[in-house]
Amino acid sequence: MKKVLKIIGIILGVIVLLLAIGAATIHFGGIPTYEVKAPDLKVVGDSTMIAEGKRLSAMVCSNCHMAANGKLEGQYMLDLPAAFGKAWTANITHHPDAKLAQYTDGELAYLLRTGIKRNGEYAPPWMQKFPHLSDYDLHSIIAYLRSEQPELEASDKAQPACQPSFLTKFLCRVAFKPLPYPTKEIKAPPMEDKVAFGKYLATGKVDCFACHSPSFETMNIMEPEKTPGFFSGGNPMPDMEGVIINTANLTMDKETGLGNWTEQQFIEAVRFAKRPDGKALRFPMQPFPEMTAEEASAIWAYLQTVPVIKHEVARNFE
Ligand code: HEC
Ligand code: HEC
Repeated sequence: MKKVLKIIGIILGVIVLLLAIGAATIHFGGIPTYEVKAPDLKVVGDSTMIAEGKRLSAMVCSNCHMAANGKLEGQYMLDLPAAFGKAWTANITHHPDAKLAQYTDGELAYLLRTGIKRNGEYAPPWMQKFPHLSDYDLHSIIAYLRSEQPELEASDKAQPACQPSFLTKFLCRVAFKPLPYPTKEIKAPPMEDKVAFGKYLATGKVDCFACHSPSFETMNIMEPEKTPGFFSGGNPMPDMEGVIINTANLTMDKETGLGNWTEQQFIEAVRFAKRPDGKALRFPMQPFPEMTAEEASAIWAYLQTVPVIKHEVARNFE
């Protein structure tokens, strides 16, 4: 009997030791790195592309990278749930010491598609990835980032290195992996194909689905429509003061979603962050004034095709 206990004791001891080694590897090893296979790319953008890149950046980069002074010099990420650690978005102005200056066009495309930085480090989910963005839209962003704009004028602001929590480091080893670099050209559906175009906006270009599905941990980036609870809201996100604001259910359920909204009310909410009852939508929902009414209308048309989910979300409005 004593011998059996001793053997069990040894086995348990070994397990505990292995777990400790594993934990130490994750803790001290940090975020994993990968080989950078950046494409050979030199974006030649015309003024139409630069204008589109500027509009797109205002919808999908500025919310994280623009500081209060209107420059894309990076900032502390207030809406990051505490469990993931602390993150500062990078300075992407034209200053020679800022992150952007070191990037080639190919490395930028590689980062934005896969999440692998030019130094090989994987950018955790706090930096957005754009695997479904059309090549034209991606190139427009790059052309814009290279162009002369007040918000891109050199700023010497140095942002601290991000502080991933143990959970983030752990998830970056087991769950969050770099995304594949596309092997062929990605084209956006034409605007006339309204539902497909709306889907492209909501799951590829502006990524409404990521915040508006229940959890970042279970979202399916490569196949957004397979995300559990797709568009049914309830993703808890801190506002500027750390108060949790749950994202809204955008499926067409009449009681817990947008089933009783009109298209016009939806367009107003998306473009100007105003609800039909007059309440203002709160951070981290941002108004999208750069989005045209036609685009918001296409998202509305797409949402009519998304499976309805009854999911009551606590909204804690005053
Ligand atoms: C959800 C917030 C978020 C969005 C949206 C976002 N970023 Fe970032 N970005 C970050 C964070 C956080 C970092 C720092 C990542 C790190 O160091 O792990 C970062 C880092 C970067 C870097 C520097 C990478 C490096 O080598 O350190 C570049 C360049 C960049 N972002 C460009 C963009 C562009 C362009 C867009 C829009 C197309 C964009 N980001 C959208 C949060 C965001
Ligand atoms: C960064 C996360 C985030 C992104 C990205 C985002 N939303 Fe939201 N959205 C929220 C949050 C949080 C709320 C709840 C705000 C509140 O309760 O004040 C919200 C609320 C809404 C509402 C109001 C619904 C209601 O019942 O009050 C609509 C409509 C909406 N979002 C549409 C969109 C669309 C369309 C997109 C993409 C173009 C989008 N959102 C992108 C976080 C986000």
